[in-house]
Amino acid sequence: MSTPLRNPDSLPQALDAALRPVRWDDYVGQKQIKANIRIAIDAAKKRGGMPEHILFYGPPGVGKTTLAHLVAATLESPLKSTSGVAIERAGDLAAILTSLEPNTVLFIDEIHRLSRKIEELLYPALESGHLDIVLGKGPSARTVELSLPPFMLVGATTRVAELSGPLRSRFGGGVYQLDFYSDDDLRDIIRRSALLLELSAPEEVIERIAARSRATPRVANALLKRVRDFSEVHERALSAALCDEACTLFGIDSCGLTKDDRRYLITLAEGFRGGPAGIRALAAALHEDPDTVEYMYEPFLLRLGFIERSSRGRILTLKGRSYLQN
Ligand SMILES: Nc1ncnc2c1ncn2[C@@H]1O[C@H](COP(=O)(O)OP(=O)(O)OP(=O)(O)O)[C@@H](O)[C@H]1O
Ligand SMILES: [Mg+2]
Repeated sequence: MSTPLRNPDSLPQALDAALRPVRWDDYVGQKQIKANIRIAIDAAKKRGGMPEHILFYGPPGVGKTTLAHLVAATLESPLKSTSGVAIERAGDLAAILTSLEPNTVLFIDEIHRLSRKIEELLYPALESGHLDIVLGKGPSARTVELSLPPFMLVGATTRVAELSGPLRSRFGGGVYQLDFYSDDDLRDIIRRSALLLELSAPEEVIERIAARSRATPRVANALLKRVRDFSEVHERALSAALCDEACTLFGIDSCGLTKDDRRYLITLAEGFRGGPAGIRALAAALHEDPDTVEYMYEPFLLRLGFIERSSRGRILTLKGRSYLQN
């Protein structure tokens, strides 16, 4: 069992890091993915090498970064974290790759943001452990092949469709989809976090928080912390009634939807007569960026079955309609 945090009121980021599982047993759910990865790691350890490169994709907050940390910890390898946005020029990638300690796990978050030029540079590094560097310009330019220390790439993305086919195919160790979590799994995550925060949370509180967590571990932890704050400020113990009051104040309803989600549904229902509505028109009506609508609002509304995506646009379902009528 993990040890409770000494100071539960430290910085939010520190708290986030502290709630992040550091052992496989604390990483709840995603059983098949865990089993697959652990086999790859054990096999690599036996061979004395590094496992093949792997990619995780799924909505925000479902545990992609956490898995990358667990992979590195299990391999007892250093972890180097960077992001697709940070690698703009060939020199950026070369600097990262050539400075890796041997057997590092290189974690590239938001890997869909790598430009095609950088991707192409990455291919030989992933396949045969070398980098082709072009020295000079024009007719006198020449390519030098630079050997790299052995490393394992762990990529993560919320937008797998934006990843090029050739890059996807380089993840020989597997491309894993991390999905939303069941209520049972969320309850386990919240129970563990409550323990780490030294909170005595009755089961009914755990259940309520799980039901309002949008099937997402990060949301579950964040909501637990907000409800804790509410209980401390009001000097009241955690209870179902307190949880309900806090959620009403936060604007979170019993399905975990916020006023932004309701605004989306109402706009689709009233502004577009239930659809089909094109993403751009819908985003414009919401004064939002289409990407925000597509990647922040829609995944959970789709999961709830409140909306559907069709080739002609978004459609409000009967379920979505009856939610709005209640
Ligand atoms: N399977 C899990 N078991 C327990 N806790 C989890 C699990 N997955 C995620 N968490 C918790 O949720 C938090 C967010 O997870 P993480 O940062 O790994 O998500 P992510 O998928 O990388 O999100 P993003 O796409 O925004 O980068 C973690 O700090 C951890 O506390
Ligand atoms: Mg992440």
